[in-house]
Amino acid sequence: MYKTITDFIKNIYDHQSTINLHEPRFIGNEKKYLAECIDSTFVSYVGAFVTSFEERIKAYTGAKYAVAMANGTLAQHLALRVCGVVHDDEVITQALTFVATANAITYIGAHPIFLDSDTDTLGLSPEKLFTFLKNETLKKADGFNYNKKSGRRISACIPVHVFGHPARIDDIVQICNDNNILVIEDAAESLGSFYQSKHTGTFGLASVLSFNGNKTITTGGGGMLLTNNEAIATSAKHLSTTAKIPHAWAFEHDEIGYNYRMPNINAALGCAQMETLDLFLTKKREQAHLYAAFFSKIGVEFISEPLDCRSNYWLNAIKFKDRTERDAFLTFSHNQGVMTRPTWRLMSQLPIYKDAECGDLFQAERLEATLVNIPSSVRV
Ligand SMILES: Cc1ncc(COP(=O)(O)O)c(C=O)c1O
Repeated sequence: MYKTITDFIKNIYDHQSTINLHEPRFIGNEKKYLAECIDSTFVSYVGAFVTSFEERIKAYTGAKYAVAMANGTLAQHLALRVCGVVHDDEVITQALTFVATANAITYIGAHPIFLDSDTDTLGLSPEKLFTFLKNETLKKADGFNYNKKSGRRISACIPVHVFGHPARIDDIVQICNDNNILVIEDAAESLGSFYQSKHTGTFGLASVLSFNGNKTITTGGGGMLLTNNEAIATSAKHLSTTAKIPHAWAFEHDEIGYNYRMPNINAALGCAQMETLDLFLTKKREQAHLYAAFFSKIGVEFISEPLDCRSNYWLNAIKFKDRTERDAFLTFSHNQGVMTRPTWRLMSQLPIYKDAECGDLFQAERLEATLVNIPSSVRV
């Protein structure tokens, strides 16, 4: 069976000697816009491409405000900060995520709580979230929920749209609203993904996108904070630009800010990539359908977009019976030059987060042992 799978993938990718997991594609105005940056000398934090990239993302996602940053991890740190999460708060997220989600919580001095995932969406399970809040927390007179064990306030929740598949974000937001917990969506992987025709990353108080080299579109490195809240957007822009008060020459800074802004040269790439996003999404969808039909024929589970959602199919994934089968396939496919990879170690399994609080992780543990990502680059 393993050979049938790698043969199919090799066929899709024209028998290249090495088939990578997700390569960027530059088929539009990338070189032209980069040359404009160089010719104009505007390669750094000031320049028209940054604003233009933000405008394009706003128009595409429907978010009212967008603030471009140097990468998604920093955008997440700042999102937590400007939304009001403080030192010693607790922030709920899922155990099945990339480490950046948990690290951003730690940068604030807050504590992550890792909960379980849905098996179909791979996102945070609303049922497990509800049960955790009901059993493990207590509402106090100030209106906030406090962890019964640690006594700490639970201020935020970060659901993740894993591999581009939308989480059950409506249910998650509803539960969080009922419990005075703000939602910051980790939409790092889900540009181009919609939950019931609304773009992922526009449901919570804020969200973040990533434009790392392996994402659906890339700026080299880059991220963006999205929000519909003007005060949050203004604060994020101010803090990401060293909290400098705008002035022609004076250096006045009214807070301890950060240098998190996206450079113009990266935004130039982003503008060009946005012009080919629709084409990329169409091609990724076609490829996902090819994979779905093939895996259904050979009896391997392929992760498809959840009901009522439109996924960007950023990174395709299949599920094996158990860890032994998964590992055998990883070894076989790598030997064949087909780059595959297991999903992330659960945050709860990383020594750095061994002391963090966890819920019951039954589904996440199964997913961690059996999921494999398969090549998903756009074929041009
Ligand atoms: C789920 C998730 N969260 C956060 C990030 C962080 O984004 P970045 O690599 O741009 O810092 C990534 C991507 O790399 C991610 O996949």
